[in-house]
Amino acid sequence: MNDNEVTAVGQRTLLLSCEEIVDRLRRGKRLPDHVFDRFLSKEARSASTRFWTPLHVAARVGAWVRELGMDRLVDVGAGTGKFCVIVSLVTDCQVVGVEQRPHLVREARKLAQAFGVEQRIEFVCGALGLRGQWPRADAYYFYNPFGENVVGTASQLDQTVELNPRRFQRDVEMTERFLQDAPLDTVVIDYNGFGGTMPASYEVICENRAAPFLLRAWKKRPDDASATDNSDRVVSQHPLRDCRMGVGDRGKSRDTGRTPDRGR
Ligand SMILES: C[S@@+](CC[C@H](N)C(=O)[O-])C[C@H]1O[C@@H](n2cnc3c(N)ncnc32)[C@H](O)[C@@H]1O
Repeated sequence: MNDNEVTAVGQRTLLLSCEEIVDRLRRGKRLPDHVFDRFLSKEARSASTRFWTPLHVAARVGAWVRELGMDRLVDVGAGTGKFCVIVSLVTDCQVVGVEQRPHLVREARKLAQAFGVEQRIEFVCGALGLRGQWPRADAYYFYNPFGENVVGTASQLDQTVELNPRRFQRDVEMTERFLQDAPLDTVVIDYNGFGGTMPASYEVICENRAAPFLLRAWKKRPDDASATDNSDRVVSQHPLRDCRMGVGDRGKSRDTGRTPDRGR
């Protein structure tokens, strides 16, 4: 154990500074979540395993964003900003986090400042689907943001916003409409889905099954083009393969996770 490690209730806790975390993330090192989560408030930390994207999943998305050459990414339901900050640290992308809970937006802005990426992340406070407009971007990320509407109160983050099955349906339908109308080449990255069905014009271009939940990137194609790509089923044949570009995924379920568990 070196000076940066302390023993906490039977497990070794690694204490790294923001700079050390950034350095290791950029070198592609895998870090345990507690290393990053100690920069969150106590409440946000205790919600981390249930509500925030794990660090290695966010870093993986960052690698895809780089590979796909995305310039602007929206995190739909940004929570405490963990995903947005990690993606900003490992890419040059402009990130927008839309979050309905004002107290989380405040915390997310502080987190971005702590890691020095506040210039590249905009946190928008508001509820998409109620008053909010969808910010323009070439990629949208979903970590089952609407799942909290259909779990019991004990599994919800808090009760400061409207949460109920009617709202789940409204938000999911609004998302399906938005994705349906989005421009060609729009990329959607989902981790445990968004609760609805991906429109048929999207094909899977990357997938990773090593994380606790299925992580996929989809790209919107013209209808006839995605039908052509269907002939190549490499993703289906090699489901553990991390990222295969330009291959179809038809024949797999398009259901993107209608069973939201623990807010995800
Ligand atoms: C499961 S958390 C994911 C947080 C973050 N994206 C991450 O991966 O770490 C979902 C977040 O979405 C937010 N959310 C849910 N519905 C929303 C909506 N319609 N508009 C804005 N935010 C929403 C919730 O308040 C919650 O913070």
